[in-house]
Amino acid sequence: MTKFSFSRSDFPQDFIWGAATSSYQIEGHAFGGAGPTHWDTFAATPGNVVRAENGDTACDHYHRYEQDLDLIKDAGLDAYRFSTSWARVMPDGKAVNPDGLDFYDRLTDAMLERGLKPCATLYHWELPAALAVQGGWQNRDVAKWFGEFTHTIMGKIGDRMHSVAPINEPWCVGWLSHFLGHHAPGLRDIRATAHAMHHVMLAHGTAIGVMRDLGLKNLGGVFNMEWATPADDSPEAARAAELYDGYYNHFFLSGVFKGRYPDTVMEGLGPHMPQGWQDDFNVIQAPLDWVGVNYYTRKLIAPNTDPWPSHEEVEGPLPKTDMAWEIYPQGLYEFLKRTADTYTGTLPLYVTENGMAHACPAEDVDQPRIDYLQAHIAMARKAMDDGVPLKGYMIWSLLDNYEWALGYEKRFGLVHVDFDTLKRTPKASYQALAAALKR
Ligand code: FCB
Repeated sequence: MTKFSFSRSDFPQDFIWGAATSSYQIEGHAFGGAGPTHWDTFAATPGNVVRAENGDTACDHYHRYEQDLDLIKDAGLDAYRFSTSWARVMPDGKAVNPDGLDFYDRLTDAMLERGLKPCATLYHWELPAALAVQGGWQNRDVAKWFGEFTHTIMGKIGDRMHSVAPINEPWCVGWLSHFLGHHAPGLRDIRATAHAMHHVMLAHGTAIGVMRDLGLKNLGGVFNMEWATPADDSPEAARAAELYDGYYNHFFLSGVFKGRYPDTVMEGLGPHMPQGWQDDFNVIQAPLDWVGVNYYTRKLIAPNTDPWPSHEEVEGPLPKTDMAWEIYPQGLYEFLKRTADTYTGTLPLYVTENGMAHACPAEDVDQPRIDYLQAHIAMARKAMDDGVPLKGYMIWSLLDNYEWALGYEKRFGLVHVDFDTLKRTPKASYQALAAALKR
């Protein structure tokens, strides 16, 4: 059997090892009275998602969660990073679905029964369609609506959470979904982007405030980061990469920890920002207890003659995953170091997602995933050696699942899922991880 070269004993005793998933990607949205989300709308519109696949059945985690939690426990993991679907809890965005609340209540207890730490993310992209038609993230009221959802779900399960973060990957909610159009609602509109980027921050801060009022502890934020490398040595390429770094990696951390957005980004977004945005930082800057970094890859950035941001990604030379993402472990080290040095200081950091899409030829052969994880875990360890207060590492993902616009064909799981039979089969990477965590 192939092995990891790290062991649990190489890390502090209280270091938390976890696996991550999200609700729409695994639960089966057709079950349990969940309402339509903007992802259902997006997937039903031709050209958006591979084979127009959606999350109706996904991994049927809704019915199989006990088996899935057993897999997490049997791997020797300490924590489960899961998310709560807004549209399952509030199908029309407002009225409560008791079955939805009940599901997360049972899921929470089932984690605790297995000694797993529940690490919740409130929103991993399933905006109720009823709120999407009212403008969704473009509408300032989304912060208020999200506060109501936060109160409802955390009023039910918040007493048993180990940690909670409001919104998975604000960059994806804002830029990827409103400027690049790759995710729901699939817009390519700079004004929509500026509004969504700011409102997602306002919703984040609002939710933190609601949870503080409920008496919850250990509240954080989860931000995705992608290293930006200039495509060549020219000053133009350096500026292009700096801007990419600005709206991808700095925008949200700067909002939360410095109370302002980067000047380079405001050059483009400034004229399109919602009225009065400058007055919202008292909400956005609600103090956090930890920060999570989701990291997968880097991009090579070259200038072009398009309107702002006047740049594009070009193909890089490094080995790639099935997402065509370059494997660049060094970026994880750089981000952990930079986040601590520039923004978070002594605040605990977590790697809240890291992993690779790889279709292994057979479940017992999964060497590229082992190599990918090994290389990134080594960078996490190096950051700790250099003083970064990293307290945990979570693998994306427990199961092969619905990879958004790419449908079911990108396999990120430690556990293989047969999407015809829904049978789960642990891969070699799962077995190797279980062995490393025992050592
Ligand atoms: C992250 C998402 C997660 C998954 C991975 C591959 O951006 O949070 O849902 O799609 O990428």
